[in-house]
Amino acid sequence: MYPLRRNRRLRTTEAMRSLVRETIISPNDFIVPLFIVEGKGVKEEIASMPNYYRYSLDLLTTEIKKLWSLGLKSVLLFVKVPESLKDNKGTEALNTDGLMQRAIKTVKNACPEMVVMTDVAMDPYSSFGHDGVVANGMIVNDATNNILSQMALSHAQAGADIVAPSDMMDGRIFQMRTLLEENAFYNTGIMSYSAKYASAFYGPFRDALDSAPVDAQDVPKDKKTYQMDSANREEAIKETLMDIEEGADIVMVKPGLCYLDIVRDIRNVVDVPVAVYQVSGEYAMLKAAAEKGWLNHDEVMMEQILSIKRAGATMIASYFAKDVVKLIS
Ligand code: PBG
Repeated sequence: MYPLRRNRRLRTTEAMRSLVRETIISPNDFIVPLFIVEGKGVKEEIASMPNYYRYSLDLLTTEIKKLWSLGLKSVLLFVKVPESLKDNKGTEALNTDGLMQRAIKTVKNACPEMVVMTDVAMDPYSSFGHDGVVANGMIVNDATNNILSQMALSHAQAGADIVAPSDMMDGRIFQMRTLLEENAFYNTGIMSYSAKYASAFYGPFRDALDSAPVDAQDVPKDKKTYQMDSANREEAIKETLMDIEEGADIVMVKPGLCYLDIVRDIRNVVDVPVAVYQVSGEYAMLKAAAEKGWLNHDEVMMEQILSIKRAGATMIASYFAKDVVKLIS
């Protein structure tokens, strides 16, 4: 008796395995999230994200050139806004000379070919740490959309290639797309955070930007009335298809690892690129376990990235982008 088919034949050597490998990781797979602060010569490590930094604009230039030289061709910008500039309406977000608007120009000056994506969201600008206007203990949908679409236009005017709304208000993609068209920004892309879950994995990110919901009366303590319930799967498809109808060029699932079933579901039904955001908490978990010597950092990192791509991601926003690219080059 012998097995008719021996699958192990194709696993005998690394050369053989590489010949039959179905998923390949390259620098083209990545979007690099970047945190930006005011100041000069600032490169400060984020406490809950070891080896990840906030940069001031002068050092952002250096970092952008570095990323480009590694083959990384797109960045996703986030800004840390001083407390004194925050209010309920995120007024500072529309400042044509605000930190985000200057950051976009800085990246384009440092490297004109770099694809510049920007986070379109109120939370870094909100005195309540929410992604929308707060009134009577609630997040007001339509008033928020007006602000978000103005914000997207402002980023496009500053030179952003793709705007990335991460708020989860209803109807924001349509409103944003309309305003961009009306202002002749025909080629500005929209990457919609279309299936964004109300996740506890965003903790370190909120540390990085000091953007967590504040603990105060009449301010919701979490984002569960707008971000999705982790228990839901069908709803992710509905959200995503609606965003595509409204004019999204790229859709996104966020977070990554715990939601790979959603990534596959969406990949199977849409005809646009699917981005996956491997979020701050996923990064922090691996860093912590590796620091303790409990997990092999590089091997687990590669396994995670590969799994996200295998699930159906066209591109991955990841804090590991640089580490991965260095490892595979
Ligand atoms: C905010 C925003 C968040 C992230 C990206 N954009 C946080 C949130 O929704 O509270 C999280 C990213 C991460 O955790 O890495 N609009």
